Amino acid sequence: MTRLVIASNRVAIPHRRGAAQGGLATGLLEALDRHGGLWFGWNGRISENPDSAPTLQMEGSLRFALTALTHQEFEGYYVGFANRCLWPVFHAQLHLLHYDRTAFETYLAVNERWARMLGGQIRPGDLIWIHDYHLIPLAGFLRDQGVRAPLGFFLHTPFPGIDLLRALPSQTEILERLLAYDLIGFQTPLDCQSFFRSVAFFLPEAQLSADGIRFRGRLIRVAPFPIGIDVDEVARVARAGHQNRHSRRLVTSLSGRRLILGIDRLDYSKGLALRFQAYARLLEQWAEFRRQIVLLQIAPLSRTEVPEYGVIRRELNEIVGDIHARYAEYDWMPLRYLTRGFPRSTILGFLRQAAIGLITPLRDGMNLVAKEFVAAQPEESPGVLILSSLAGAAQDLEEALIVNPYDTGTVARTLAEALVMGLDERRERWRALMDRLRKRDLHHWTRSFLETLAGIRTHSAP
Ligand code: F6P
Repeated sequence: MTRLVIASNRVAIPHRRGAAQGGLATGLLEALDRHGGLWFGWNGRISENPDSAPTLQMEGSLRFALTALTHQEFEGYYVGFANRCLWPVFHAQLHLLHYDRTAFETYLAVNERWARMLGGQIRPGDLIWIHDYHLIPLAGFLRDQGVRAPLGFFLHTPFPGIDLLRALPSQTEILERLLAYDLIGFQTPLDCQSFFRSVAFFLPEAQLSADGIRFRGRLIRVAPFPIGIDVDEVARVARAGHQNRHSRRLVTSLSGRRLILGIDRLDYSKGLALRFQAYARLLEQWAEFRRQIVLLQIAPLSRTEVPEYGVIRRELNEIVGDIHARYAEYDWMPLRYLTRGFPRSTILGFLRQAAIGLITPLRDGMNLVAKEFVAAQPEESPGVLILSSLAGAAQDLEEALIVNPYDTGTVARTLAEALVMGLDERRERWRALMDRLRKRDLHHWTRSFLETLAGIRTHSAP
């Protein structure tokens, strides 16, 4: 069987503290297990003298190849370019863009160093699947290492439109470097369209066609591959998590009040400030719900080394304080805001308990929590999903209550509507959403991407 080689900035080593976990990681690990091969990426550590070859680590049948970053690499590649340039532009937050040419050069240098390390691990015939915005330039550098196999890339974030991309210095070089891949996968058809339009605008020599983009004598396939979840696994873990100590404590603490739940990394793209303002409007204008509901927002700290994340954290502390000062009573807190993480089973158990899932990012590639909320819900009395139109998931989950997160008045009204929605309508919407989740689940995502990539290999074989 063909080996699979995955590369991404974070590597999901099972059972390891701090490693990326969750449905997506599980799906990729399964694919890795099926194909054999290895997963290459950052070991999460800073070291001033990273070895020239990656450290190999076995976890059962899974193989990982890991490397450290120097402090200067971490600052330039991860903080500076990936998270202070690409992330804000890709999430339509131009006021947070901080470009620095040195950071861009470090971003390229890390990709080049990683290509040298990874190149040595690749065997002829391997399927190579690179993930996310940290590693856009990896393909070109792998080619310099003599790697000839087709290279697949999947972008987990949204792809920006022309007007956003125009603000990113080096945008033409970024596009050219993306076009060194053979297959580029996006989350949604809209992201594909934005990419096609940007290529036509910034690289007029490229020819667009139904099967992809012709650029400098090569054909690059471009297609949407919306990520799904493992529906049965989520439902099973949620049922078990619902019985655990944390879930029981949560039920007791609610004293029969209904739970509105948000779960997001603490990131400015998640729209938490506007979400809290919308909730405050609900409490203000629909006073009958006061004391009847609790909004629990779980927002584990994220990217604390990036200055903008400190700013949003302070802003949220202030908004939460205002809401408490205004509406809390000695025996009721309207909002519970936690900046720590919980094990996946607890999170899924909490999602099962929630009457409303409130997922309102300002921009999101997909948002798997929205999908997990649906799969975690009990069939006999499912809750209601309120979902931002600006999350990729909204293109997949039509029967959710779709809102514009910038329109806090409508979000507040939609919350009021969801709180009184009857059982028949909730069931009808939930069943339709579950059908959609099952049709395009996580296995469908890995299979369809890898089959498309393997097809390219067959075509280009001599
Ligand atoms: O989904 C985007 C993403 O950047 C992933 O690549 C990453 O694992 C996750 O968000 C968490 O961010 P970070 O790796 O910067 O902590």
